[in-house]
Amino acid sequence: MSYAADSGVCLDRILASTDLSGLSKKDATTFTRRLKEHFPRLFDKYTYVYGHLYDCYFHLQKLVEILRDGLKNRKPALKKLDNERLKNPLWYRDEQQVGMACYVDLMGPTLNDLHDKIPYFKSLGVTYVHLMPLYDAPKGDSDGGYAVSDYRKVNPTLGTVKDLEKLASALQKEGINLVLDFVFNHTSDEHAWAKAALAGEKQFQDYYYLFDDRTIPDQYEHTLREIFPQVRRGSFTFNEQIEKWVWTTFNSFQWDLNYSNPEVFNAITSEMLFLANIGSAALRLDALAFIWKELGTNCENQEKAHVLIQAFNCCLQIVAPAVVFKSEAIVHPDEVLKYIDKDECQLSYNPLLMALLWNSLATRKTRLLTRSMKKSFSISENCTWVNYVRCHDDIGWTFDDAVANELGINAFDHRHFLNQFYTGRFEGSFANGVPFAENPSNGDCRVCGSLASLCGLEGALKSNDSKGIDDAVKRMMLLYGITFSIGGIPLLYSSDEVGKLNDYSYRFDDTKKHDDRWVNRIAVTRADTELALGNTSPANPTETASLRVFNGLRKMIAIRKQNAIFGQSSTQILDADNHHCFAFLRENTQGHKLLVICNFSEHPQTIQRSLLATLKGASSRDLLTDETVEMNASPLLLEPFQQMWLLAD
Ligand code: GLC
Ligand code: GLC
Repeated sequence: MSYAADSGVCLDRILASTDLSGLSKKDATTFTRRLKEHFPRLFDKYTYVYGHLYDCYFHLQKLVEILRDGLKNRKPALKKLDNERLKNPLWYRDEQQVGMACYVDLMGPTLNDLHDKIPYFKSLGVTYVHLMPLYDAPKGDSDGGYAVSDYRKVNPTLGTVKDLEKLASALQKEGINLVLDFVFNHTSDEHAWAKAALAGEKQFQDYYYLFDDRTIPDQYEHTLREIFPQVRRGSFTFNEQIEKWVWTTFNSFQWDLNYSNPEVFNAITSEMLFLANIGSAALRLDALAFIWKELGTNCENQEKAHVLIQAFNCCLQIVAPAVVFKSEAIVHPDEVLKYIDKDECQLSYNPLLMALLWNSLATRKTRLLTRSMKKSFSISENCTWVNYVRCHDDIGWTFDDAVANELGINAFDHRHFLNQFYTGRFEGSFANGVPFAENPSNGDCRVCGSLASLCGLEGALKSNDSKGIDDAVKRMMLLYGITFSIGGIPLLYSSDEVGKLNDYSYRFDDTKKHDDRWVNRIAVTRADTELALGNTSPANPTETASLRVFNGLRKMIAIRKQNAIFGQSSTQILDADNHHCFAFLRENTQGHKLLVICNFSEHPQTIQRSLLATLKGASSRDLLTDETVEMNASPLLLEPFQQMWLLAD
């Protein structure tokens, strides 16, 4: 008879030798109960990845101790939240949810200053604030904070961990969730682990991927994608001090962690629980696609990356079940979907929708958007999309080439067109974007720019073109309107809400000028928020446009929040009978139906009223204008860039 590992026996043994005396009686009970529930899954995942190692069991035991300490350090208010969220696990599918991502320094400039911004968040209706990475990081270039030197220390220029905890609870009191980054693919080369590795400590050298010569790096590089080819070719960096090649997928100062080492999994779990215990409602899993390396593959989206994320998720379920994961997989649409599961990532960015909204704006056509969303929008009912239009990164054209081919679109040429269009090199383009990460070897390129500049506001203001300004504002409303209505949490990128233009000042900063993503990392000043809140009046066309954007978004958000149909409903992507228009139907269990129709062209478009038949009523009301729309009449007319949110009567 062969020996079959049994998670029950294993847990009994681990518990028998785990000291729980430091926990309160209540915590000890909770801990054992949750372990009993989730350990079988954790055991499966952990042994799947590490079972072949002679010391796997030792590390598993250590992991349980880390979880115990995590629960011990969890504050009573957060434990209360755990219980509430366990009773209402789908809170993130609620129509009330609206997110905003912002940089502390560009809005604060410190954590303490952000307390004053709470009324601003509330006036827009924001219920979740993602603070961009705020941890201790190298001075100068730190990839916008994504090179973390210490997960337990806030960057001193922004404040302290105490300040962060204070802010988290102030936000929580106002019904705003805090979202933090979990940057776990890499650390900075100044992290204590990296420093120990640099000092020659073998234990910590095993935390990273270090190679004595180019033999193995060369083998890997055959199949790796280059992420930042504009600053450095390849995925490895030679370190003079230890005379070794270090795996650095992103920048040379961002060292990839070695997850084939269970000690790394355990150590990072401990850091993750620290972040959960600060009071974050969700952790954004940065660059999660890259955490597992497999020779002969592109080392993205590997099966064991999924297994590890599921294992991290088990750990959270045991210690901090109020916290959910948000996947940041900016990869092929089929791969994006694989991270979305209630036992893996409950939330996920929707990079495909984002990229294709921009595509439709450029082409004025919706067939790629419609076909792709039909294929890829539907996800588990236990999970939700985070829909966004812009973020702090570039726009990558991550659509599925096969879907494009079906429509007769040559994917390579089309990406080239989009890059030309959004960098303003295509004649007649309205956009002012900047090329990013151009790869001389394969012609790849991505695009950066602010919402307003990419939508044409920058050019229109410059040439004093009032129709151009009008169109630009309408484009912004159109794109955001879809994220508010299609299903999922809409995520605003701060500075979009006041239509800020590209900020080119990074070109004069030696620590930033090589990274064009800075063009869209823009301060929201006190003058901006005062204007938005109506405390000052617009003094020039730029401010007038800014106020229009803010008020327009605010109005749509308010409508979203007043109608349950924007919450837990299903979404069906429809074929609009006009190739400039995009349409979808939403339906909930209370029988409410909403039909959204959007015109991506700067000309009026008509739609056959038969599309309204999907609403199954004689009439409907456009929530955006409050007008009644009858079923039986001549074709429906949509103004340039108009969208209709038709609720069945
Ligand atoms: C994520 C971040 C990006 C960063 C990268 C490396 O993609 O959004 O800004 O450069 O990860 O951490
Ligand atoms: C690549 C990566 C993504 C990262 C981005 C940063 O697209 O896939 O994770 O955010 O580069 O520019």
